[in-house]
Amino acid sequence: AADIPDDISEVLLTEEQIHEKLAELAQLVVADYAGKEVVLVGVLKGAVMVMADFARHLPRHITMDWMAVSSYGASTRSSGVVQIRKDLDTDITGKHVLIVEDIIDSGLTLSWLLENFASRGAESVEVLALLRKPDAMKVEVDCRYVGFDIPNDFVIGYGLDYAEKYRNLRDVAVLAPHVYS
Ligand code: PRP
Ligand code: MN
Ligand code: MG
Repeated sequence: AADIPDDISEVLLTEEQIHEKLAELAQLVVADYAGKEVVLVGVLKGAVMVMADFARHLPRHITMDWMAVSSYGASTRSSGVVQIRKDLDTDITGKHVLIVEDIIDSGLTLSWLLENFASRGAESVEVLALLRKPDAMKVEVDCRYVGFDIPNDFVIGYGLDYAEKYRNLRDVAVLAPHVYS
């Protein structure tokens, strides 16, 4: 379409579709965690938008913490090497942790995080991911709350970057191959 910039192949999910889905997932989470204290852990930087919009559907007693790990750098491919760039500020021992992610691609980041959090003695650890790419997954990740399963294209926007750019796009879009090839 004429209104799509040439670095984007197509808009995959609109802002409205994303917000509707996050509201639905929040209803499930509210029911599943009734009477429990939830610690949301957002994975910087991609999960910032998901966290901001999702968390505001939840009751006031939840807490938020953040972890920064990196497996991509400036590349479009996961290296599989997970580095902690910023650790949690809080002790999650005995807590019900819900990890908030923008996307499960190879699954390597999350499988590493799940193991790491389990070893800290969390009471429970579940995952909420807005997006998942079934055809890209290299390891099984048990993800309780999934927004959308999407094709194995390079996607940007709503927190997702290519070389740190495009995170502020309101929609999720497919990056035009000429940008990265
Ligand atoms: C991206 C994305 C997920 C992870 C998914 O983060 O936000 O956290 O990769 O990939 P995987 O399933 O193959 O491990 P990235 O490492 O690019 O850091 P960022 O969130 O700061 O962009
Ligand atoms: Mn990320
Ligand atoms: Mg990234």
